Amino acid sequence: MANTDYEKYLNTETLMSLQKSPDKLVCHDEMQFQIVHQVAELWMKLYLHEVEQIKAWISESRFVEAHVLFTRCGQISQLLSEQLRLLNTMSPNEYHKVRTQLGKGSGQESPGFNTILGAAPTLWEPFKKQLEKNRVTVEELHDNPTRHPELFLIAEDLFGLDEQFLNFRYLHLQLVKRIIGGDVPSLKGVHAEKYLMRGLANQFFPELWAVRNEISRRRGIPIGAKSGLCPYPHGEKN
Ligand code: HEM
Repeated sequence: MANTDYEKYLNTETLMSLQKSPDKLVCHDEMQFQIVHQVAELWMKLYLHEVEQIKAWISESRFVEAHVLFTRCGQISQLLSEQLRLLNTMSPNEYHKVRTQLGKGSGQESPGFNTILGAAPTLWEPFKKQLEKNRVTVEELHDNPTRHPELFLIAEDLFGLDEQFLNFRYLHLQLVKRIIGGDVPSLKGVHAEKYLMRGLANQFFPELWAVRNEISRRRGIPIGAKSGLCPYPHGEKN
C-alpha cells in the first residue's frame, strides 16, 4: 500500500524501523528503554535548534521572541524530566537484562546532551553585549529590575533554562540510584553518584547564581566559601 501524505511527511516508515523488532528484544522492557532514549535525543535536537534562534533574537534585541523560545526550551526540559518516570516502571533486574545490550554505551556519550553542554553557555555572550550596550551590570539589573525590564526578563529566562536543565540532571541521578544504585562504577570506572553529582554543579550561567549570593551578602548574610563541587569551567563537558 502506498504511503499516505502523513506517513511521507513524518517519514514514519524509517522512524518505526529505528527500534529493535520485538523478536530481537532481550526483554519486554527494552522497547521502552530504547524509545525513551531516542525521544530524548529528538527533544534535545529541538532544544539546540531553539538555543541558536534565541541567540539571534537576543543579539537583535527581539526579547519577546527570545522569551517565547526560552519558554519552549523550559517545556522541553520538563518533558525530558517527566519521561524519566517511565523508566521507574522497569525493575532493577529488567534493567540488567537491557544493560547486557549496551556494550560500553552510556548516556555520557549522548550527542544531544553533550552538544547542549557546549551550546547553552554561549547564550551568555549576546546577553552580556546587551548589558554593555545598556551600560548595566548583572548586579544593577537585579537591584533595579524595572529599569531594564526586558533585560531582567531575559536574565530570569537564562536562569530558568539553567535551573530546569539541572533539575533534569538531578532527576536522572535519582533514577540511576533507583534502578542501578549510586555506587556502581560509571563507564569510565568512577563512582556513578559522585560523577553525576559533579554534573549538578555545572552551571551554564554562573554569574546569575553568583549574584544571588552577592545580594544576600549585601543584606548582611555571611557567605561561605564556594562549594567546590565543580572543578570544571562552565560549559565544559565533565
Ligand atoms: C534505566 C535508566 C538509566 C540508568 C540506569 C542510567 C544510568 C546512567 C549512569 C550510571 C550514568 C553515569 C555515567 C556512566 O555510567 O557512564 C549515566 C549518565 C547519563 N545518562 Fe543515564 N541512565 C538511565 C536513563 C537515562 C535516560 C532516559 C537518559 C536520557 C535522557 C539518560 C541520559 C544520561 C546522560 C546525558 C548521562 C551523562 C550525565 C552527565 O555527564 O552528567 N540516562 N546514566
